[in-house]
Amino acid sequence: MLEAAVKILLVLNGKGGVGKTTTARNVAAAAAAAGLRVATLDTDPQGTLTRWWQKRPDNAPAIDHYQDSLAEMSDPVEPLDGIDLLVIDTPTAIEMTAIRPNAEKLIDQADLILTPLQATPEDLESVRGTLTLVRSRGKATTFVLNKVKPRVKEVTDARRGLAGGGEVAPVDLPDLAEVYRSYAAGLGVVEVTGAKSVEDFVALWKYVASKLGFKS
Ligand SMILES: Nc1ncnc2c1ncn2[C@@H]1O[C@H](COP(=O)(O)OP(=O)(O)O)[C@@H](O)[C@H]1O
Ligand SMILES: [Mg+2]
Repeated sequence: MLEAAVKILLVLNGKGGVGKTTTARNVAAAAAAAGLRVATLDTDPQGTLTRWWQKRPDNAPAIDHYQDSLAEMSDPVEPLDGIDLLVIDTPTAIEMTAIRPNAEKLIDQADLILTPLQATPEDLESVRGTLTLVRSRGKATTFVLNKVKPRVKEVTDARRGLAGGGEVAPVDLPDLAEVYRSYAAGLGVVEVTGAKSVEDFVALWKYVASKLGFKS
């Protein structure tokens, strides 16, 4: 069993390119910057989160990192001594028969699930599969609107449309080059001096921290 102290944040959406890895690395970096002992687990065989972690500068707050492909994962997530928060990034197509049972195990273990998506009709339609999967385990997910463009009506529509499916995080993540630039630097946006969206990512972390019972 996991130590009671370890909280597990699962980032989940069966659609690709919605911002799972972006959310995972930014929450992990913000939590580490806030002084928590953080580990990340990359279950996507594409290994994007792993490559981000490998780029992390030596002077950035340390994050422990593990890699275990969802398709090959045979056991529930192992105990992690001395870790406060484990952030798990996941691959696409988790609803598919081959990996669904392992996705279910992660859902069962998660203390909080975040589902990033864009405020587009495509993402709103395709998120239903993820929602069905999460609900089939008796759990709920929190939606995070990502790559949000200023003042588009779709964001209001999406908030309204998603409300019946679960909580929508009170902070939207803007579509900005500094978000992917921070990937190349091995950092979270909150660690980039002068980044415009620092406040958004700090707000996301504060929201996650309060949900998980951490002081932010
Ligand atoms: N808020 C954002 N602003 C700008 N680019 C973003 C943002 N969120 C994600 N991206 C970029 O979009 C692409 C897909 O995001 P990613 O987090 O890898 O999605 P997923 O893990 O769900 O496949 C990546 O190139 C990433 O850098
Ligand atoms: Mg990814």
